[in-house]
Amino acid sequence: MFETLPASVQIVEVGPRDGLQNEAATIATADKLALIEKLARAGLNQIEITSFVSPKWIPQLADGPELARQVMQEPALARLNFSALVPNLKGYEAASAAGLKQINLFLSASESHSKKNINKTIAEALATMAEVAAVAKADGKRVRCYVSTVFACPYEGQISPAASLDISKKLLAMGVDEISLGDTIGAATPNQVLTLVKLLGAEVPLEKLALHFHDTRGTALANVVAGIESGITIFDASIGGLGGCPYAPGASGNLATEDLVYMLSGMGIATGIDLEKLTDAGQLAQEILGRALPGRYLKARLAERQQKCASAG
Ligand code: HMG
Ligand code: MG
Repeated sequence: MFETLPASVQIVEVGPRDGLQNEAATIATADKLALIEKLARAGLNQIEITSFVSPKWIPQLADGPELARQVMQEPALARLNFSALVPNLKGYEAASAAGLKQINLFLSASESHSKKNINKTIAEALATMAEVAAVAKADGKRVRCYVSTVFACPYEGQISPAASLDISKKLLAMGVDEISLGDTIGAATPNQVLTLVKLLGAEVPLEKLALHFHDTRGTALANVVAGIESGITIFDASIGGLGGCPYAPGASGNLATEDLVYMLSGMGIATGIDLEKLTDAGQLAQEILGRALPGRYLKARLAERQQKCASAG
């Protein structure tokens, strides 16, 4: 079935940001740090730890500066690539002061989501991204940028792939290093992934593109396979399938990191991640949040572990 598969893919863990931004409960900074440490111990070397956005808009991540300071001071975590979401120069300055070497900008391919999420039109957002990217690149930072709602918008429905191509070309011209294409409300199907990547791949180097799937309608893993078939080798995922954008009604969890690692490992594609340690991280996330998370592998593996314990005891 598969002609050529990549030997390895890069997974970007977004749970501490995309996951925790959507939680109703306030989570202690110490718990967030403990989760990030467990994720790092599992082998995840690219972790988006928080946001430097307005605390009025995302109160759940209001401790971003303090958390980032603590993460960056932890010697065991020093060699890893930590990043944070940044909407403007104010956020950039705080992220840079915390010592982060990568910042993640974000904007939308849909005008309505853009207004709801960052109170800017796409043109205004692009101007802000250009301003921040210029400063960040001059400071030697790596810059990723998310393009949200590339397939569908909760307010406008289907979004033309041409919108993402236009935005991506502008981001590349700003010196953005990596563009993560977001299926914010988890509505895409594999054929749409093939179409979008083919269109963008003609003008954007494939190694600069990442895919960011939410699993709202259960299509995220199938979409990853379509992404791999199209030549993409960077995928975002979230521990336990946490996640969602508070300004995109109906957006539920991201693709679960464990489900992604399990599938890739079965396909012979290396990720550098230890699935048992990742399960430990998922278990910790469940303990912190006090509920079961949607990840399927996590559920299955924890049940197996429990059964083993019961039959041993
Ligand atoms: P605004 O209200 O239009 O802007 O918000 P403002 O400049 O008037 O600022 C309002 C207040 O926020 C002011 O404080 C600013 O100082 C402060 P006040 O004077 O009222 O006391 N402020 C900040 N504070 C801390 N850090 C900052 C910052 N900037 C301003 N960086 C703004 C505009 C962009 C700030 C706001 O709309 C915002 O923060 N939005 C963030 C929304 C968000 O985080 N959404 C979720 C992430 S996106 C996502 O999940 C999708 C993704 O996962 C990919 C996918 O799935 O597709 C990435
Ligand atoms: Mg997201």
